[in-house]
Amino acid sequence: MEYADRINRIPPYLFAEIDKTITSKRKSGVDVISLGIGDPDIPTPKEIVESLSLASQKTVNHRYPSYEGMIGFRDACAVWMKNRFNVELNPESEVLTLIGSKEGIAHMPLAFVNPSDVVLYSNPGYPVYEVGTILADGIPVPIPLESENDFKPDLSAIDIKTARKARIMHLNYPNNPTAATVEKEFFSEVVSFAKEHDIIVCHDAAYSEVSFDGYKAPSFLEVDGALDVGIEFHSLSKTFNMTGWRIGFAAGNPEVIAGLGKVKQNVDSGVFQGIQEAAITALNLPATIIEKNNRIIQARRNLMVDGLSRLGWKVPKPKATFYLWIPVPDGSPSIDFAKKVLDETGVVVTPGVGFGKYGEGYIRIALTQSEQRLKEALDRLEKLE
Ligand SMILES: Cc1ncc(COP(=O)(O)O)c(C=O)c1O
Repeated sequence: MEYADRINRIPPYLFAEIDKTITSKRKSGVDVISLGIGDPDIPTPKEIVESLSLASQKTVNHRYPSYEGMIGFRDACAVWMKNRFNVELNPESEVLTLIGSKEGIAHMPLAFVNPSDVVLYSNPGYPVYEVGTILADGIPVPIPLESENDFKPDLSAIDIKTARKARIMHLNYPNNPTAATVEKEFFSEVVSFAKEHDIIVCHDAAYSEVSFDGYKAPSFLEVDGALDVGIEFHSLSKTFNMTGWRIGFAAGNPEVIAGLGKVKQNVDSGVFQGIQEAAITALNLPATIIEKNNRIIQARRNLMVDGLSRLGWKVPKPKATFYLWIPVPDGSPSIDFAKKVLDETGVVVTPGVGFGKYGEGYIRIALTQSEQRLKEALDRLEKLE
């Protein structure tokens, strides 16, 4: 069977390889501690689960949902954006329900990219920016995130010809995998750049609510002119520990929202209304629920940063996300180091190169295990040769 060229152009999925190794280790009796995957271990708040339970019994919810999502959910998104970021949105035209933000990010290029158009995407980064572009026959061009620039792209370094061919630019703050954050001034620079080159900005805000020490991440849509040039992807996955539920939303420029909506009308039939009703409950929960969650992750962050620093690893303390982005301690290629750690200790860390070539030289640790398991991981890492 021959695959289409666009499938063959998708880069190898390093994480599938790692998953295979983990499965075989577990089969051979190793107690693997995975610090690899960004999937919260803490359960979804009970209010949300109870809300789904009730909503699932309403027969009206057993039928096809609307393509763009229930107006009740989109209203709740708009109110949440207003309360959280002071961003005013029209829920009818400026909010679109998504089957998780991944789905929206993956479909964006199908709406706006013609063959040979360029899509700029931050690298290292969430692999879907690049793969979504490939699936739309566009040309993905990485913009490096480097420590010298606090993992912010240097927009002035983007070649002018490339910028002219670009239709979309994917950015993500708080950032996966580097855990970097930005302030509004950076987003203002992005708006000017996008206006100058007529580029649609897609800002991925999946980790906007996971932050510590009083830090609050800004929304791209807060800055003047942002609504003219782009949209923001929001996810309930990390905010409310709902990765399995598959719900998120896109918010921003109405023409961009309409274009993405057009693709979706033709490839999916929306999100189960029971889940949308539960998501309304989530968005209306008091902020204390998110704060409590963040306190748990903050304690884990402190534990790991202190513990790994004692081992001589250089570990920056992130203000947001549940990731630690760490220079490879022995300077070896990140894949070799991750393999060695797994073989010698049964602990899974992710090689930075899995997030793109500019991720080489780093490993990522996800704080998605209990303190007890993290302590066990630290004990084992201490014995690393
Ligand atoms: C940066 C980033 N964006 C988007 C997503 C997708 O989230 P979801 O599709 O669950 O909303 C993830 C998931 O890990 C992510 O790390």
